[in-house]
Amino acid sequence: MSTTITKIGVFTSGGDAPGMNAAIRAVVRASIYYKKEVFGIMRGYEGMIEGDIVKLGARSVGNILQRGGTILKSARSQEFRTPEGRKKAFDQLKKHGIDALIAIGGDGSFTGLHHFFNEYGLPSVCIPGTIDNDIPGTDYTIGYDTATNTAVEAIDKIRDTALSHNRLFFVEVMGRNSGYIAINSGIAGGAGAIIIPEDHMTFEELYAILKPGEETAKKSNVVVVAEGSKIGGALDLARKVTERSSYFDIKVTILGHLQRGGSPTYFDRVLASKLGVAAVEGLLNGKQDVMVGILDNKISFTPFETVRSGIHAINEEDLRIAKILSI
Ligand code: F6P
Repeated sequence: MSTTITKIGVFTSGGDAPGMNAAIRAVVRASIYYKKEVFGIMRGYEGMIEGDIVKLGARSVGNILQRGGTILKSARSQEFRTPEGRKKAFDQLKKHGIDALIAIGGDGSFTGLHHFFNEYGLPSVCIPGTIDNDIPGTDYTIGYDTATNTAVEAIDKIRDTALSHNRLFFVEVMGRNSGYIAINSGIAGGAGAIIIPEDHMTFEELYAILKPGEETAKKSNVVVVAEGSKIGGALDLARKVTERSSYFDIKVTILGHLQRGGSPTYFDRVLASKLGVAAVEGLLNGKQDVMVGILDNKISFTPFETVRSGIHAINEEDLRIAKILSI
């Protein structure tokens, strides 16, 4: 293992995700296990620029494994996008003697770190933490499982009231441009239709799925809509269906940021723990400018460049299954 790295900085960046704390804990404890000092950088790149940096110990990450959010807080920094901002950040890291970085975040966070690596050559490893599951090089991102479970729980509850009142619900879930949360919460929640950006379902096709309800008196239904839907969000679709037919009693629920909070599932805790330890071990074994992920249940390191230019495609088979089951 490398002896040149002595002080590792860890931070969370971009949208928070359940399990980030478990990843922080794993990074801190693995660093200490390998006799390295570890520093928490507060508020992502913003805190890096301002020098908001604290020394962490094994005990300072006690009792956070099960907590949602991130004890290091998070931010989306505009200043770090500029070379001047990155220079300020580098000066602060130098002041603290930090010679390697671990970022926990999404693709925006990776891009920043990639530029930083090219400019200053600081070894860095990224850990994918986002509810969106939209990052290539890993089958799962930290937080995705918890967020999807939250969405399923909400869909189950909405179904109860939808049935009682014979209502058609459009439930919008997060995911930015990815349909992962929608497709899997839709399958698990028994959705009547699932609208995701990766699919090419038109509004007419959606309406054709709902319309038979008029003939069979099936008024109650739940349609799961990914926020990145190309044919409109839940509110747009509800409005369009209302314009076509007065038959349905339509309601809309936008789940929003509640999907980002809550105690991480066992899956996210274990994933975060494995990736956190692997990130430290990767750094100490000379990995740099890479993302650590899990592919076919094995730890894997992918160059940032590959991660940045790829997409994490939806499994076509999931889409097929969802369509069969929603008849
Ligand atoms: O990337 C995570 C995510 O929650 C997306 O699903 C969503 O589109 C976005 O962040 C919301 O961002 P913000 O919290 O800045 O509104």
